[in-house]
Amino acid sequence: MNRPRVIVTERVSEKGMAILEKELDVTFQDGICREDLLKVIGEYDALIVRSVTQVDEELVNAAKRLRVVGRAGNGIDNINVPACTRNGIIVANTPDSNTISAAEHTIGLLLSSSRNLPQAHSFIKSGKWDRKPFRGSELNGKTVGIVGLGRIGSMVAERLASFNMKVIAYDPYIPDERFLRFGAEKKSTLEELVKESDFITVHTPRNQETMGMIGRKELALAKDGVRVVNCARGGIISEQALLEALESGKVASAGLDVFEEEPAENNPLFDFKNVVVTPHLGADTKEAQERVGTNIAEQVVKALRGEMVPNVVNLPTVLRQDLEFFHPFIELCEAMGSIYFQISKAPIDRVEITYCGEIANHEKEILTIALIKGLLTPILSDRVNYVNAKVMAEERGIKVYEKNGKKEKGYINLIKVKIQNHNHKLELSGTLTTTGEPVIVEFNGYETDIIPHGYVVVAENEDRPRVIGPFTTVFGDAGINIAMMRVARRVKGDVALMVVNVDAEVDQQTLANLKAVDGIRNVRVLSFQ
Ligand code: NAD
Ligand code: MLT
Repeated sequence: MNRPRVIVTERVSEKGMAILEKELDVTFQDGICREDLLKVIGEYDALIVRSVTQVDEELVNAAKRLRVVGRAGNGIDNINVPACTRNGIIVANTPDSNTISAAEHTIGLLLSSSRNLPQAHSFIKSGKWDRKPFRGSELNGKTVGIVGLGRIGSMVAERLASFNMKVIAYDPYIPDERFLRFGAEKKSTLEELVKESDFITVHTPRNQETMGMIGRKELALAKDGVRVVNCARGGIISEQALLEALESGKVASAGLDVFEEEPAENNPLFDFKNVVVTPHLGADTKEAQERVGTNIAEQVVKALRGEMVPNVVNLPTVLRQDLEFFHPFIELCEAMGSIYFQISKAPIDRVEITYCGEIANHEKEILTIALIKGLLTPILSDRVNYVNAKVMAEERGIKVYEKNGKKEKGYINLIKVKIQNHNHKLELSGTLTTTGEPVIVEFNGYETDIIPHGYVVVAENEDRPRVIGPFTTVFGDAGINIAMMRVARRVKGDVALMVVNVDAEVDQQTLANLKAVDGIRNVRVLSFQ
């Protein structure tokens, strides 16, 4: 069988490449030009990039077989994630693998720019000796303003506190507890932070909101002689505003690892003596690249095997320790979703999922997604997956509602599902057995036990003698073994529900024979693969 194909367009560690090569057909094309990549991307199942390759809509549309984009690193601003999501392409990154390196590089830039280390280094190596031009500024007792107290910002906060700096931070998206935890004084506005800081370092993602967030206005509000560092993404500190503030002397020094245009050549900021620059080196340590390389390779291999991938950007995060707990519920939800279009051809406009009992206390989005994936699979087959299921439902006008309900009927966990349009409704409830197996315990008001595995025949029958016997005989005559069977009724003598798990597929003739049994109202065969 042909092995899945992956193209790696930027440098990844040897260990990472070795992991890929074990299972995949690997093409390494470091720095492949855009035109060439557009020509060949249609032949690959996976793409691994760092920050240079632009995975935009045009590339995604050309990538007809692509199933996963692996971002060997943290920032995903070079990847059009919504376009990937629409096309069912998983985007995974390695958010924790290079954070220490980036935090340490930030400290390096801060120290080297405030103490003029690279300038002094070049000077002395050119055979001269002088100290006066390189007099710097201490960190001790100064205030550092951190914009974005996420993974890297918080590591920078901890490290700078040990220099006896006062740490203040602006991040409107995190709870107060996080400021306390990292010893940072919370600033409610960027203006407050900018006014009080001797040093400003930015650690936000690059997006519409953060591009140019430190601009002319903010630098004008800053203290005279403020020092700035950007080891996050080019443009978060506006390069034009910084250039003007360096010219006027408002900014005493800048340490920059990232630029609005990369690769950055002839950037006018390079002309300033008090600007220290590095070529996007924040993550470039032996340790970080080894972690990043192995981590992304493992994730891409998992994604291509169809296994759960830990750092998928376009899926809700399920913590590693929660995966085991969620797994049978994911199976249950997918199975419940898959029933509707197996028994009905009517379009749906509403899906309501109620999580009752302990499960209600968990983050359940992944279960809702599993249910929708299951729902759409009978009509869209492998065009729908966990990544695009919600988008696909939205495109079909299906509104999905997720609610929490009270603990019910002695079930520790119960997931209730209503799938409906204006004149058609399917109601199901499911839980796990005491051994942790998914089981559907309610089917349109009948209390039952449907084990969603293999083939299940569901029939409504008149609740009287001489119906069940002839019905089960049809299976025997067709050589189909019955594995399990359950009969349920709402009212004695009315209509009952028979659920029969069988060991083989039910052929058309057997189905016709089952339907022809006297007292049988309707028969549906469900398949759970
Ligand atoms: P993160 O997601 O852990 O943290 C980002 C923080 O920014 C979050 O706490 C978020 O709430 C905050 N934030 C978002 N918008 C904000 C706004 N408008 N104002 C204030 N705060 C805001 O990210 P991280 O892993 O810490 O990475 C931070 C940055 O560093 C990213 O841009 C990433 O791409 C970059 N990075 C650069 C290098 C490098 O080589 N130079 C290496 C790794 C990461
Ligand atoms: C990142 O976002 O991880 C960094 O920019 C480093 C990199 O791209 O290698």
